[in-house]
Amino acid sequence: MWKPEQRIRYRSAAGHVPGRAEAAASRLFSPVAVGPISLRQRSWVPAMVPWRATEDGFVTDDVLAWYGRFARGRPGAIVVEATGIRDVPSGPLLRIGHDRFLPGLERLVETVRHESDGATRLFIQTIDFLAIRRRPDPHRFLEQFLAVTPRHRAALGDEGIDDADIRARLLALSPADLRQVLSPRECEALDFGYRERVTDTDLPPIANLPAVLPGLFADAAARARRAGFDGVELHYAHAYTMASFLSATNDRSDGYGGAREHRARLPLEVYDAVRRRVGHDYVVGCRFLADECVAEGSTLDDAAYFGVEFARAGMDFLSTSRGGKFDDAKQPAVGTAAYPYTGPSGYECMPQYLSDERGPFGRNVAPTKAIRDAVRAAGFAVPIVCTGGIHNFDMAEQALADGVCDIVGAARQSLADPDWYRKIELGLGDTVRRCEYTNYCEGLDQKHKTVTCQLWDREAIDEAGARLSADGRRRLVAPDWRPTG
Ligand SMILES: Cc1cc2nc3c(=O)[nH]c(=O)nc-3n(C[C@H](O)[C@H](O)[C@H](O)COP(=O)(O)O)c2cc1C
Ligand code: SF4
Repeated sequence: MWKPEQRIRYRSAAGHVPGRAEAAASRLFSPVAVGPISLRQRSWVPAMVPWRATEDGFVTDDVLAWYGRFARGRPGAIVVEATGIRDVPSGPLLRIGHDRFLPGLERLVETVRHESDGATRLFIQTIDFLAIRRRPDPHRFLEQFLAVTPRHRAALGDEGIDDADIRARLLALSPADLRQVLSPRECEALDFGYRERVTDTDLPPIANLPAVLPGLFADAAARARRAGFDGVELHYAHAYTMASFLSATNDRSDGYGGAREHRARLPLEVYDAVRRRVGHDYVVGCRFLADECVAEGSTLDDAAYFGVEFARAGMDFLSTSRGGKFDDAKQPAVGTAAYPYTGPSGYECMPQYLSDERGPFGRNVAPTKAIRDAVRAAGFAVPIVCTGGIHNFDMAEQALADGVCDIVGAARQSLADPDWYRKIELGLGDTVRRCEYTNYCEGLDQKHKTVTCQLWDREAIDEAGARLSADGRRRLVAPDWRPTG
């Protein structure tokens, strides 16, 4: 993973540890309305893909154990990982694109209800993403994958030769000469692997996204409701389809790109379709970027505009993230796919302990406050969730007191200690296992390996009933914790 060159080392801190009475009187442990329902406290576990679904996207016992473990910490809300809305193979990513996924998702809802004693609200993040291929072997790319075009013929100076000859000539070129012949997109496909963009409107499925996606997201939301989830989080963040529509790099000329009003159009139409399908008595919110953190990307000013428009449309919550784009991702090794959290924008999304002067904690705080201020100034009271490096009571309470957000998200801190909110609530905050922001978990995610935390995955590994990784060397959920005394 990319790191800022300063490599300044930061340590997470316990901060002030409140007693039980102080915690009970705090903002963090006060209820908050989210559309038609309320959270019993303002603590939130954001979406995290743990790679525990089956190869065809079904809920497994490991998925149930993962969410059940978070639920035992009784946060105000948990958002289930990015879950695919299409009925297409997507590897071991959870899916909601067909009714056959419903029984598993129903079990997931029941598990969280049961394990949290009904204290935790459960949302599911729904995602669409475009095709991305692995970086090819250069020979195979030129021999098989590259579509020979008139441009190649013209560049090679002989328009009469057949495709096989063109390929043979391309193979014989030096790397520098080859780059003169290939288009920029072909060079990208060679160096990084082919990747579709929302701006590839010459491809009919991409041109048709605005016609297709509202229905797919609406169907997924209807299934989420049938399965018993308390609401859906539309994934409008990071490197995926909807974020790409919002992006300042989206220059589609069909009314869905260019000016930010046009870039927001499909996300608003998707929301509209979802709302019409699930009704007004069901929670629908979204996750979007406070800043894309890439050159030419949308800025905070755009994000504030989007936040206001999402609020105006009637969303029940807005959750912010930052970065996580393909635009600046590291070149993958041959045979692997580019990953959107490997460049500077990826660092902004999941900053780790080696950082710059700004440090890894709370990089999303000021931008989220600016978005919330804009939303409030426009007259909307929609609750806003801020996530990024938050790991102790002080940080959470301060963010709420300063009007940064209405709900506090903590992903990696909750992975490090799924009971951390509960421990603080019970006045046992000095027993919290604090995340060290090493991004060991993120490294596993990148390799599509079952995600665990280095602070507990070797602990009590031979305990009866402990669920283990395929190689038997890591436990898959944090050891149990029960309050004593
Ligand atoms: C293993 C892992 C998987 C993640 N998966 C998702 C995801 O499915 N959807 C999403 O919006 N964010 C995802 N994230 C990002 C987190 O929700 C969160 O925004 C990020 O980790 C920064 O917050 P933190 O500092 O509290 O960890 C993931 C993060 C991690 C570490
Ligand atoms: S592995 Fe554990 S300690 Fe390291 S960043 Fe992930 S959650 Fe935090």
